[in-house]
Amino acid sequence: GSYGGQYRPQVHFSPPRHFMNDPNGMFRDHNGTWHLYYQYNPTKSVAGNQHWGHATSQDLYHWTNQPIALFPPKKNVYIFSGSAVIDKNNTSGFFGNQSNGVVAIYTLAEYLDDGSPGPQSQAIAYSYDSGFTFTPYDGNPVIPSNSSQFRDPKVVWYEDHWVMVVAYAQEFAIGIFTSPNLIEWTHASNFSNQGLLGLQWECPNLVRMPLYTEDGQRRDDMWTMLISINPGAPVGGSITEYYPGTFNGTHFEAVDSVARIADFGKDNYAGQFFFGVPDEEDPVSIAWASNWQYTQTVPTAQEGWRSAMSLPRRNYLTRIDRVGWKLISSPYDMQPIMGRNLAYNQSLVNGSLTVDFSDIASNAVYWEVNVTGLPKKGVPEMATLNFTLLSPITAEYIRGGYYFGGDNPFYLDRGGAKGFDNVFFTDKLSTNSLFRNGSWSMKGVMDRSILELFLNDGVDSATATFFATQPLTFLIISTSSLPHGTRVSTRVNALKSTWQ
Ligand code: FRU
Repeated sequence: GSYGGQYRPQVHFSPPRHFMNDPNGMFRDHNGTWHLYYQYNPTKSVAGNQHWGHATSQDLYHWTNQPIALFPPKKNVYIFSGSAVIDKNNTSGFFGNQSNGVVAIYTLAEYLDDGSPGPQSQAIAYSYDSGFTFTPYDGNPVIPSNSSQFRDPKVVWYEDHWVMVVAYAQEFAIGIFTSPNLIEWTHASNFSNQGLLGLQWECPNLVRMPLYTEDGQRRDDMWTMLISINPGAPVGGSITEYYPGTFNGTHFEAVDSVARIADFGKDNYAGQFFFGVPDEEDPVSIAWASNWQYTQTVPTAQEGWRSAMSLPRRNYLTRIDRVGWKLISSPYDMQPIMGRNLAYNQSLVNGSLTVDFSDIASNAVYWEVNVTGLPKKGVPEMATLNFTLLSPITAEYIRGGYYFGGDNPFYLDRGGAKGFDNVFFTDKLSTNSLFRNGSWSMKGVMDRSILELFLNDGVDSATATFFATQPLTFLIISTSSLPHGTRVSTRVNALKSTWQ
């Protein structure tokens, strides 16, 4: 596949050709190589015919496409989402003295002859070569079922045993299974009917999440359950919610009954956390940057592909005054893709900055704005910060803005990009983003057809695709009505293409 199309992301992963959805099987191997698998239809640019595509990276940004790792075992049986682990101690018995054996755990999804969904069961496959080739286990499935809605096993290690979370999608339940060896699984408990339900629960993750104080000190760890909802998200289609809580090896209990949404955009779904990141480091995730409501109709098919992954993100939990528990999610070290500085301005108070980046070959940019010195009270209602990405040719745009007064709403508007018309492609998304200690910040990544925003270093984040008919090549950042004493500094950098 060519990575040169107008919509083709340059710092995000997208498949060589045809259709991709959920990230699967993600792990970091003993050499530090990151492995990403993904739901893949290698023959058409719509969902179906699911394989596990595969790519590897040293830095989570530069990806090398690898041969397909898992194939449908027979007609009408597909490989749905799942996870992978390194079986360091050979608990499975597959690996002899090898300490880098990999086991993939996934759903076998059967379809009946009339096309309706048949049984979904959980299966495993093992790899002697660090995840490049797999052999399905003879005794599959390891968790049989008659249900057509039982899928997406995610396995982690807990003290002395394996733990699987897996979705009973239409029962709004996450099954928790335990195993000594990845082969024999015992149902231990269910986590069910809490928070938002939508119409299905999918792609659960159970993550040991570091807990940071508000001033950035790492304290304890805390377990967090993440569940993807589709369809039926509040903004339509697909979304992810999370539950901070406790886990004792068999039972997960949420701290409260609150539904918390992970990303206020509309294109962040089925996120998965990498296996093999040491507990001392913050957990790393990647999500599918799309939404089932419109993913199969987006115009990137003109270029022979559909769907990209989100940026890799590091994650932790914190508690914020007035907000409560919050999953903080910000881009993994971007140094490998950071290009030259295009603008730097230390006094953008009530002024505006325009950056023409038409000569940047990647058509991908990064910006950050740091606002400090805001008074606690008395910020004028009209004090705002705005950004616009603009096509000087067609005047198409996407934009966003923040209100420093009132209850601090932030909006994102992708309605000025005219290359895609779909009633579910919600134009305007918003969140509240409180500022603290007089400070507020925004980081943005624009990558041809994906925008990711991180407010206050990831306290709030948004992933949003957009499709303009012409590339957006101007960035305008402005502020107005900011009170005396406020300081605003802005930086804009080119991003280096990881594909060209
Ligand atoms: C989520 C999902 C999973 C399933 C996979 C099939 O997007 O529906 O539940 O395993 O996609 O491709």
